[in-house]
Amino acid sequence: MRLNTLKKLVFDKNIFGFLGLTGNINQLYKTSFATAASSCGLLDYLQARPRTLTDIQLRLATDHSQQAGLEAWLGCGVRFGELRLKNGYYELKGKLSRSLARPRNEIAAATLEEVVRYHYDALLNAPSRLRSGHKYSLADQDGELIARSSRILEPFVEEAIDWALQTGKVGSVLEVGFGSGYYLKYLLQSNPQLRIQAIDYQQEVVDAAGVNLRRWGLADQVELSCCDVMEFAATGRYDLITLHNNIYYFPLAMRMPLLRHLHGMLAPGGQLLLTTSCRGGSPAIAALNLWWSLSDVAGALPDKDDLVNMLQQAGFAQVEARQMLPGESYYGVLAKTDNKIQ
Ligand SMILES: C[S@@+](CC[C@H](N)C(=O)[O-])C[C@H]1O[C@@H](n2cnc3c(N)ncnc32)[C@H](O)[C@@H]1O
Repeated sequence: MRLNTLKKLVFDKNIFGFLGLTGNINQLYKTSFATAASSCGLLDYLQARPRTLTDIQLRLATDHSQQAGLEAWLGCGVRFGELRLKNGYYELKGKLSRSLARPRNEIAAATLEEVVRYHYDALLNAPSRLRSGHKYSLADQDGELIARSSRILEPFVEEAIDWALQTGKVGSVLEVGFGSGYYLKYLLQSNPQLRIQAIDYQQEVVDAAGVNLRRWGLADQVELSCCDVMEFAATGRYDLITLHNNIYYFPLAMRMPLLRHLHGMLAPGGQLLLTTSCRGGSPAIAALNLWWSLSDVAGALPDKDDLVNMLQQAGFAQVEARQMLPGESYYGVLAKTDNKIQ
């Protein structure tokens, strides 16, 4: 390089400004690559043993005509330090990829994928989407991925379920928006005698939860239906209705009718348990709130105090909100109906 070019770079073109960004840029590259490699199953595949380009091509079901593109993508993985290519075999190298490939980190891998696919997209495209009025819709999300990612909240939701089971006498349960179905299993582990009905309005979610319940040997103990809760007509009254991580799927204007509808399906002294992220939490909660604020659901994460007020207005006699994760805006809200309601 000529001295003059170097001088231009340093003094005119501010190379230091760019160099200062390389850490951010490399992190972005690594994270994007590792997320895609985890999502398509490449990390799992390489975790078992090193593989050739042809093995990977077959595994990912990419056409031979796409070989150059596949090689370029794997080359990025190598260049970013996430893969190693040795004697024609690709293997895992980077800390992030090795961590995501571990079976015990599968929930964290799904959460990272949600962040990269949806939160990152919302942050990047918020100004243009706001200008064009082009909203996200539920079809923009992979319901099955969200169901897996939501499992990161399991310890807090489990504590909230224990709270509800200890507070009231519970024989029958309606779970609304069951996702992976994991909390149905948790309910039955806590009390195998429970009669449980569960509804979710995304068919792919219902199918995946059905597979899980069969795997857990619980398929006969839960009645799963694909149905929008607002169209669900209960045949009896429930002692407990649960809504975990889904109040923000309902437009703001729908929340009061929803709470009244749920109130109407509860037995006297019955309980509604809501667990939800509320506004004002960590960066992850702010980004989740952004996605929903940019969606055609026209909703956003609830404000905790507003939610408590709404439950009172919907007719619940006692409402209590508990912060389930210290320092985070993640709440369990337990609302009880009057013992004498008709
Ligand atoms: C973020 S996921 C949470 C899944 C699960 N409750 C959990 O916490 O892991 C929200 C779920 O609510 C379901 N859902 C949202 N609105 C619904 C409605 N109106 N009727 C039934 N299910 C609904 C969605 O399909 C989705 O599976």
